[in-house]
Amino acid sequence: MKNIYENEMKLEFVSKSNNEAFARISVAAFAAQLDPTIEEISDIKTAVSEAVTNAIVHGYENKEGTVKIICKIIGNSITIEISDSGKGIEDVEKAKRPLYTSKPNLERSGMGFTIMENFMDDMNVESIVGLGTKVTMKKMIKKDEIREEDITEVLNQISKEN
Ligand SMILES: Nc1ncnc2c1ncn2[C@@H]1O[C@H](COP(=O)(O)OP(=O)(O)OP(=O)(O)O)[C@@H](O)[C@H]1O
Ligand SMILES: [Mg+2]
Repeated sequence: MKNIYENEMKLEFVSKSNNEAFARISVAAFAAQLDPTIEEISDIKTAVSEAVTNAIVHGYENKEGTVKIICKIIGNSITIEISDSGKGIEDVEKAKRPLYTSKPNLERSGMGFTIMENFMDDMNVESIVGLGTKVTMKKMIKKDEIREEDITEVLNQISKEN
């Protein structure tokens, strides 16, 4: 049996917009151990940036709060959980619709969730009004590539069988 590689990290920071870059770079640095392509890293950074910005702008409405990130690596996938204890979302399905924004006058385009959905393989939003919001996103790294470990595994299997 092949051992599955696992790793985990947690981040917690004050909801200041200056910390958005810190968050996206930190998650990208953690994801780097999966040897992602430049495009995959860029997708992860964009998705993290959207979720963290939402927590700061909508969750806490620029008041002070704590944004939490938990990143888990399992095999060649990375799961990123971004949560706030802010105001929460009344209707998650409506919020996820492309172009829906509750702040049209603040130059928001309502595309954050759509971007997260498109740039990651999986995205899920859980929210309770008055308690906060948690966005969980997952991405498979190099899912189209034949991995060296897999070839070794198959070769070992063949040599055992003969
Ligand atoms: N963490 C959150 N807490 C509270 N409400 C949220 C949160 N994240 C999203 N929302 C709600 O969901 C709506 C849609 O979010 P989305 O990121 O798709 O668009 P936006 O933030 O309004 O615009 P854009 O991301 O394009 O700047 C927001 O307008 C807001 O009402
Ligand atoms: Mg947004």
